Order: sequence, then C-alpha cells, then structure tokens
Amino acid sequence: MKLELNDLTPEQFLAEYWQKKPLVIRQGFKNFQDLLSADEMAGLASDELVESRRVFQKDEQWQAEFGPFECYEHLGEKDWTLIVQALNNWLPAAEDLIQCFDFIPRWRLDDVMVSFATPGGSVGPHIDLYDVFICQGSGSRRWRVGDLGGHTEFAAHPALLHCEPFEPILDIELNTGDILYLPPGYPHDGISLEPSMSFSVGYRTASASDMLSGIADYLIDNELGKEQIADPDRSISTKSGCVTPADFSRIKQQLLDTLDDKLISQFSGCRLTTSKCELDLPESELGFQVSDLVETIQSKDLIRLGGLRCLYFENSYQQGILFINGETESLSADLADVIPILCNDPVLTADSLAEWMENSAFLEQMVVWINKGYWYFDED
Ligand code: SIN
Ligand code: CO
Repeated sequence: MKLELNDLTPEQFLAEYWQKKPLVIRQGFKNFQDLLSADEMAGLASDELVESRRVFQKDEQWQAEFGPFECYEHLGEKDWTLIVQALNNWLPAAEDLIQCFDFIPRWRLDDVMVSFATPGGSVGPHIDLYDVFICQGSGSRRWRVGDLGGHTEFAAHPALLHCEPFEPILDIELNTGDILYLPPGYPHDGISLEPSMSFSVGYRTASASDMLSGIADYLIDNELGKEQIADPDRSISTKSGCVTPADFSRIKQQLLDTLDDKLISQFSGCRLTTSKCELDLPESELGFQVSDLVETIQSKDLIRLGGLRCLYFENSYQQGILFINGETESLSADLADVIPILCNDPVLTADSLAEWMENSAFLEQMVVWINKGYWYFDED
C-alpha cells in the first residue's frame, strides 16, 4: 500500500494543510482494496471486546446503538452505518495503512476506524476534535465540509453530537482510493451513495485541562508533588489582605517546579501509550523462553501487536527509558540504543536485532514482552 499525495510532498502537506485546511487527495491510494470485507467487519462487531456503533434514523429521529451486534436484517438495505473503532487493534492489515501516514508520529495517532454504510447512510453533520484522513474504500460517498467557526452543536441523540446544517466549502464525491483530510473543527457530513466502506486514520491531541487533570491523578497515584509552599525567608507584612508579587512568585514557582521535564515526560509517556480501546492480548502469560526467541527469530519476524503503543523521548532514552502500553520501562542504559528500534519499527527482524541477540538482559526483557503478547512471531 502506497500513499501518493499527488503534487504535494509530505513536507508541503504539513506546511500548507495539516491542522489548517481540508484537502481532497484524488487517488491517494491506487488500486485500494478494502482492509476487510463487510462480513468480516460484522464478525468484529459481534465481539464484545471490540468497540462498535450503529447509526441510523428512525421516524426522522437519529439513533445510535453500541455493539456487540448480532443481526442486521431489521435495518433493511439503506440509511444505516456500522462503525468499528480501533480496527488496528484487531486487524494487522490496518497497520499497513497507518504506516502510509508515518510522516506524522505515532504519539499523535488515535486509531483507524472503519465505517460501512448502506446507500443514504450517514452519521449526520458534526464536528470532530481530531485530524482525520478519511480513505474511501469500496463504493462512494458524498462529503460536504463547512468552514470553521460559529456552528451550534447539539445532541441529536444522547450519543450523537451534531451541528446545525452548514454552507459547504467543499461538496465532493469520494471514490475508491480517494482521501479526504480534515483538520479539527471543520463541520462535515458524509452520505453513502451506494454500499461503501471508508477507513479513517484519526489523530488526537489533548486539551490543557485534560492534561492537567491527568497530571493531578498521576501525582496522587504515584505519591508525588507533596512539597508544600515554604517561606522561611518571609519579611514582615504591612498589608495583611495582600498577596505581594514575591508571594505570588512563590505560589507560581511551586507549580512550575512540580511540572518539570521529568514529570511531564513520565506522565505523557504513560498517557500517550495507553490504548483507548481493548488490545488483543493473551488471557494469560505465554510460555516463551529466551532459547525460543533466539531460535525463532531466525525464521520469523516479530510483529508489534496492533494498537500497542510504545514511544521514547529523544531527550531521555539514553537513560534506558521507554514507555509501553501505559507504563514506564526502565532498561539499563547499555540497552538504550535498542529503544528506537523497538519503538520506530513495527516489525523486528533477525537483522534489525542482530546486535542484541547475545545480550541476555535484552533477550530476557524481550521474552517478558513476548509473553505478555506485546510482540508476536509472524505466522507466515
Ligand atoms: C463515517 O465514516 O461514517 C463518519 C466519519 C466521520 O465523519 O467522522
Ligand atoms: Co467526523
């Protein structure tokens, strides 16, 4: 699978469109094949571990239901949509699609969502807080996109936040292989023209209030940030009701000292590697030994579990620190150079790990991760 931005380089895309304005990329994928069939999608949507939704209108009222779903007959052949979230957690092929967009780093990625819609199917006009590349698979959809700003939002159903109808700045038909890029905030509405599938590669960020409330929880959970405001150097006060600039500085400094690089990277490393949706992990630890790893890697690659999030900070990985699935992992500093390989390469091979295959600390750590299901040996 190869992404073509046509007359744009990824650098130009980032400079001119990313987080700025919508873009239609005609035939961004030549010969695009759906990553799964509608039947396979229904199979996923029948699994209670998989997050799925159906959206349709009944008596002109918007309806949204949450899976698992067993049957679709009563919905008829038009005007409904089925969505499966975090497809990349369940379908290895979705990883190939994400890799096409790896000019944006993984810490920004949310997930790949698949939507199957019958003719007339739509989730209604709405605004997302996400950047998204909507990749049209089989069939076609008409997309209308409005401009930023001033759109009233309301709950068309308790689980559907819609916006008022908008004047389109784009009104286009997406066909198989076409891509619509939308930055956050642009109202949009896609209506299926025939049975169709689309694959949305979504990117998330966080608001400052989400980050700060997350940091507050992190401090409490880890018993950090207990330092009190201290003022042993206090001079006399002549205005008992006043907070002087010097005192304001103390108050502010306590917060700024707490929010240091170490706390921010530890907290955000854990947060950014936490998967929003269930991962396809084994129910109990697998029984691999170091000798199995050494032998098997010679003939099979090690694949990182779809949806497993792992990252490092350029400023701290030399100390052996990386983050996997919501946790800090501290390796010994002499393993630091394997960290970028683990986090940047979704597939590990005998070649990419060659330098580490005689390092028992590395092998033991890798086996722990394999036994948790974080990496698995390629089946074919
Ligand atoms: C859809 O693909 O049906 C809806 C996606 C979106 O508008 O966010
Ligand atoms: Co949307």
